[in-house]
Amino acid sequence: EKEGYEHFMIKEINEQPKGVHETLHRRLNKEGNIELDGIQITKEDLEKIDKVYIVACGTAYHAGLVGKYAIEKFAKIPVICDIASEFRYRDPFIDKNTLFIAISQSGETLDTLAALREAKRKGARILSIVNVVGSSVARESHDVFYTWAGPEIAVASTKAYTTQLIAMYMIALHMGITKGLLSKERYDEIIEELKAMPEKMQRILDNCTIIQQLADSQFNNESVFFMGRGLDIDVAYEGSLKLKEISYINSFAIAAGELKHGTIALIEEGTLVITLATQDRLYEKMLSNIKEVKARGAYVVAIAKEGNKEVEKSADTVIYIPDTMDELTPILSVIPQQLFSYYVAVARGCDVDKPRNLAKSVTVE
Ligand code: M6R
Repeated sequence: EKEGYEHFMIKEINEQPKGVHETLHRRLNKEGNIELDGIQITKEDLEKIDKVYIVACGTAYHAGLVGKYAIEKFAKIPVICDIASEFRYRDPFIDKNTLFIAISQSGETLDTLAALREAKRKGARILSIVNVVGSSVARESHDVFYTWAGPEIAVASTKAYTTQLIAMYMIALHMGITKGLLSKERYDEIIEELKAMPEKMQRILDNCTIIQQLADSQFNNESVFFMGRGLDIDVAYEGSLKLKEISYINSFAIAAGELKHGTIALIEEGTLVITLATQDRLYEKMLSNIKEVKARGAYVVAIAKEGNKEVEKSADTVIYIPDTMDELTPILSVIPQQLFSYYVAVARGCDVDKPRNLAKSVTVE
C-alpha cells in the first residue's frame, strides 16, 4: 500500500496537498464561505465564550499552538494551549463559558481523552479535531471537526498536522467573521490564500532535492538546534520533534529571543542550527539571531519566504518556501523540516516508519 514509495512517512508527506485540499473544500459552500458541517457555534454562543483551552499531545499539541495564534488573532478570545498530561492534573479553571478544543489524529490518546472528560465534567463545551472517524475523542465530544488526511500509518505524524492546521484556521476564521471582528474582504482574502496552499505545498515537494542534499551532508550531527520567533517557533517545535523521533538525534527548539538566556552557550564550531525566518514583522530580529549563532561558528540553515533574499548574506544554506501571508506560513514551513527529518533518518539507516520505543497511538499513561 506504499504505492511505490519506500516508506509510509514519505508517502504521507506527499499526500499533504490532497489532505489539505479535502479538509478545506469539504467545508466551503458554493459562496466560498466556511460551513463547519454540523457544528453550530452561533454569535450568541461565541459572545459567551470567554476563554478557549486547546489540549493535545505531541504533534497535535504543536498544531494547537498555531491554533492559539489564529483564534487570538482572528476571533480575539484568549487561548491557553496545553499539553494533555499536564492539563489533566492541574485542576484548571474551567466553566460553562470555556470552549475546550481537543486535537488528536487517532482520537484514542489516553491523556487527551482524560483531559476532555475533565473539561466536560466542569461544564465546558467540547469541540474536537480528529482524523479517525468514530474514535473515542470524537464520540465523547459535543462537536467534531474531522480532518480529511486519510489513514496515517507512519508513527511520525505529518499529514495529520497540516490538516489540523487547516481545521484550526477554519475554526478561527469562522469565529472571527461570526463575531463581526473580521471584514468580509479580509476573510475572503485569507480563504483564497488557503485555497492556494495545496499548489504551494506541491512546489516545495517538487523541489525536495536541495533538502535531500542537505540531509546527506548533515546526517552525522549528534545535536541540532531549531529556532524561530512567533509562529516560526511553533513550527520549529514540530520540526525538532520530527527529527528526534525518527533519527534519534538530540534536537531542541528554542525561541530565538531566549538564546541569550542560556542556550547560546551550547553553540560551537559546526553546530547545526535550523532557523525559521518567515515572519515579515520579525525578519530583522531573526537576521540578528542568525548572525549571533554564526559568530559562534554555527552552520546555519534558514527557511525563508521567496523574495526575502537578505538572509543569504548570513545563512549557509537557504531553503525558500513560496510567498504567503505571515499568518499561514506554518502550512508551508513545516514541509522542509519533515523532509529533512525523513532524509536524515534514511541516511542514518533508521526504521523510519516504526521508530524505536514509540507507538502510533498512546493509549497508556
Ligand atoms: O493521535 P494523536 O494525535 O492524539 O497523537 C498524539 C501524539 O502521540 C503524536 O502526535 C506523536 O507525538 C507523534 N508520534 C508525532 O509524530
